[in-house]
Amino acid sequence: MNVVILAAGMGKRMQSALPKVLHPLAGKSLLGHVVDTARTLSPTRLCIIYGHGGDAVPAAFAATDIVFAKQEPQLGTGHAVMQALPFLDDDTPTLVLYGDVPLTTSASLKKLLACAAPGSLAILTVDMPDPTGYGRMVREDGKIVRIAEQKDATEAERALTEINTGILIAPTPHLKRWLASLSNNNAQGEYYLTDIVACAVADGVPVHSAQPGAIWETLGVNSKVQLAELERIFQRNLANQLLEQGVTLADPARLDVRGTLVCGRDVTIDVGCIFEGDVVLADNVSVGAHCVIRQARIGNGAQIKPFCHIDDAVVGAAAVIGPYARLRPGTTLGEGAHVGNFVEIKNSQIGNGSKANHLAYIGDATIGARVNIGAGTITCNYDGVNKSRTIIEDDAFIGSDTQLVAPVRVGAGATLGAGTTLTKDAPAGKLTLSRSKQVTLDGWQRPTKLQK
Ligand code: UD1
Ligand code: CA
Repeated sequence: MNVVILAAGMGKRMQSALPKVLHPLAGKSLLGHVVDTARTLSPTRLCIIYGHGGDAVPAAFAATDIVFAKQEPQLGTGHAVMQALPFLDDDTPTLVLYGDVPLTTSASLKKLLACAAPGSLAILTVDMPDPTGYGRMVREDGKIVRIAEQKDATEAERALTEINTGILIAPTPHLKRWLASLSNNNAQGEYYLTDIVACAVADGVPVHSAQPGAIWETLGVNSKVQLAELERIFQRNLANQLLEQGVTLADPARLDVRGTLVCGRDVTIDVGCIFEGDVVLADNVSVGAHCVIRQARIGNGAQIKPFCHIDDAVVGAAAVIGPYARLRPGTTLGEGAHVGNFVEIKNSQIGNGSKANHLAYIGDATIGARVNIGAGTITCNYDGVNKSRTIIEDDAFIGSDTQLVAPVRVGAGATLGAGTTLTKDAPAGKLTLSRSKQVTLDGWQRPTKLQK
């Protein structure tokens, strides 16, 4: 089938320089959601009608399966679909979707396709308690005969509660003919896509309808208020799926997933956590309150304590992270590693069972197994121009407040005394320290306050 996505509207009520369809919902643009849903139907042609916001819309989609057709000026939904006609394959029907209606499910679209017998027109409709603003489905003897737009409807028509979601599928050659016959002689002076229904009836083409699984699937975004409402609906649905899978959520209303979150068995997530990109939490992982975890894999049984920030990192099984730890891109932690409060790690591999429990910066380092990094330890990885690596071998003990001036290596089992500034390699198995001699001055007296 052909899919046409209408996305030319300006979205004035968003009060934003960003084109409406590019505003993110759960970390992905509104239009991105619609494109992804469309792709689940394996369309032969996928055409997006854009206009407002100029090239920002095509520029946001570097995909070879999409053609973009510009609609300028914007003379209505019928006129918008006309812009796609040169790109459509006549041999398959055409499905029309909306770039600002992000939550329609693939299942509901398949239901619509299933009710569209070859050669017929099928429309996704829904019963709305308050249909104000929508096109109303006008039926005679139970059969759809036309759609009355809010601004053109009679009082009797406005009382109808079955509304047009806008989503429809039509035989492509018919669609071309019907669109060519549209007029803009109506309350808004626009070419209404909805007028093709009356055309179909006049042609004796059957008009069917299907209903989506839920009303929220058909809600559009016109303002930040509606965007926020749909975000909550999306997040609530996702939280429910996680609960169904057995994930424990302290509060399903206080979880945000902006990407894909895959959880094993017996995973627990406390309130206020944000997951971005692709995140995998293996079995028995617990995530404390207010963590932000992006693009990460967390191993079996690892505990992430509250207020951690993890970005593009791999955490080994049974590791204990935080509270207040920051793992930056390129961090890999081995099994049973401990990373405590106010520890920042970047582009480093930390071996099994190694610990950095308090106040440290570890950048561009390779650290072996069972290493103890004392409080206040810093890898001096940057000389203002170049980055250099620090290597710490297995079983080393790094005393508190040590600076490792990279490039530098600490041998296996070496001990560094507290306060060392290490500028040369420390040999394996020995104590190395740099420390000025401690002195005590006899007869020294504390100063006293001077009298004026
Ligand atoms: C439309 C339907 C209405 C339906 C409602 C569902 C028509 C005439 N009416 O009304 O029956 O109940 O959607 O939400 O179709 N667009 C373009 N180019 C244009 C005009 C619109 O691309 O020239 C796009 C908009 O960006 C938007 C969509 O089409 O994504 C719908 O347009 P909008 O003006 O919001 O239509 P409604 O008046 O809501
Ligand atoms: Ca609308």
